[in-house]
Amino acid sequence: MKEKATSISDLIAKKPINQTVVVKGWVRTFRNNQFIALSDGSTIQTLQVVVDFENTAPEVLKKITTGAAIGARGTLIESQGRGQSVELKAAEIFIFGEADPEKYPLQPKKHSLEFLREIAHLRFRTNTFGAVFRVRHQLAFAIHRFFHERGFYYMHTPIITASDAEGAGEMFRVTTLDLHHPPKTETGGIDFKKDFFERETNLTVSGQLEAELGAMALGKVYTFGPTFRAENSNTSRHLAEFWMIEPEVAFNDLDDNMDLAEAMLQFVIKDALDNCAEDLDFLSDRLAQEDKSKPQDQRSEMSLIERLHFIVNNTFERLTYTEAIDVLMQSTPNKKKKFSYVIEEWGADLQSEHERYLVEKHFKKPVILTDYPKEIKAFYMRVNEDDKTVRAMDILFPGIGEIVGGSQREERLAVLQARMREMHIPEAELYWYLDTRRFGTCPHAGFGLGFERLVQFVTGMGNIRDVIAFPRYPGNASF
Ligand code: 4AD
Ligand code: MG
Repeated sequence: MKEKATSISDLIAKKPINQTVVVKGWVRTFRNNQFIALSDGSTIQTLQVVVDFENTAPEVLKKITTGAAIGARGTLIESQGRGQSVELKAAEIFIFGEADPEKYPLQPKKHSLEFLREIAHLRFRTNTFGAVFRVRHQLAFAIHRFFHERGFYYMHTPIITASDAEGAGEMFRVTTLDLHHPPKTETGGIDFKKDFFERETNLTVSGQLEAELGAMALGKVYTFGPTFRAENSNTSRHLAEFWMIEPEVAFNDLDDNMDLAEAMLQFVIKDALDNCAEDLDFLSDRLAQEDKSKPQDQRSEMSLIERLHFIVNNTFERLTYTEAIDVLMQSTPNKKKKFSYVIEEWGADLQSEHERYLVEKHFKKPVILTDYPKEIKAFYMRVNEDDKTVRAMDILFPGIGEIVGGSQREERLAVLQARMREMHIPEAELYWYLDTRRFGTCPHAGFGLGFERLVQFVTGMGNIRDVIAFPRYPGNASF
């Protein structure tokens, strides 16, 4: 079957009734030797293909099974059945590839997300994952559009790097040395001078430092690339390989930075609502179903769709870390020691239970926390007048916790050097970063949005491993 197929989404939208069309896709179900539900990825909807079983060879009929790739040529007609507007009266069925029903793992029944993770190479073929990956695409596209329309340049920062941007030491090493027989230095250490790059290198944890260099000439830049963290956090919010969006803007301060992040999040979520209505309706229903099996107090008050509209239509609550600590110390779960980490004093690092309390219980809307203690934040954040806090901002979302982390950057050379000494960050290695503060320094700010956390929020998927095609996490690098 060589003719070009028309996509199912086009057929449903344009309804070329009584015309001969060709469709190609995968069989979801085949009922009564007659009705095929065909999916081709262009929409969550399947097209009903009605087989002319009297004029179709029995060997062909036998091969129409769940998972098989087929083509169908026939006439598009108004549908008699409920739930669909058009169907295809097939004159010819062509089998591209069979799927042995004895062996094909994806039978048309409900599979658990855990099981589907084990067959991640096939899970795209379910309604849930089809919807997730279409929405993921839409969000990625919307992000590029948001920045492009506002005069930002998309900058590709390196994936292999010699610096630890976040200073957290959670990096994957990159080496070509023979690990069984590494070259040694005179003092017995490993001689990285003999390594590929003649120095120690790793996978990047963030493109920020390089993005700052770009912003100091191009004005407004953003990155959108993979980042890698070897933190051993086996949670539903962490991946070892995730995608991050990092805008960086010269002459922006923290308020500008918050405005930009809020506008971007609202823009991309609205874009998904406008362009992925069917998929989001499906995911909203899925979540409502899942919710039913939860205890009453853990169910969400809003449906997924309502939650997305809520974000688009409401401003985010902005408050300082210090104000947030006051709220938390006064809170019932803190007083009753219901938190796993009870907040005892100013300076405590916030855990996701605290972040979620603020967002879900106290303010009931997205929250931007600013001005964190400098001890718990990265070296590059601008130090406030009080010399205790830095111009940091974290955006906290319901069900997710931290979705964005950013700051106004320390643009004063001497202050930055002092911070680096305090935090034992070698100046010599970051001479290039410090050069921007030596030559034409200016206030600037940026942030990082965890792309998978955004996709999680928009799709309502509970586990971050279900919003990236092939998740990498401790103990898993399959596929
Ligand atoms: O808060 P983080 O560590 O900030 C940075 O990396 C800065 N350099 C960003 C900047 O200012 N340009 O990470 C930013 C975001 C987090 O808010 C979170 O959404 C996401 O990246 N993130 C992760 N997502 C999935 N898995 C992980 N292990 C993540 N770690 C961070
Ligand atoms: Mg952070």
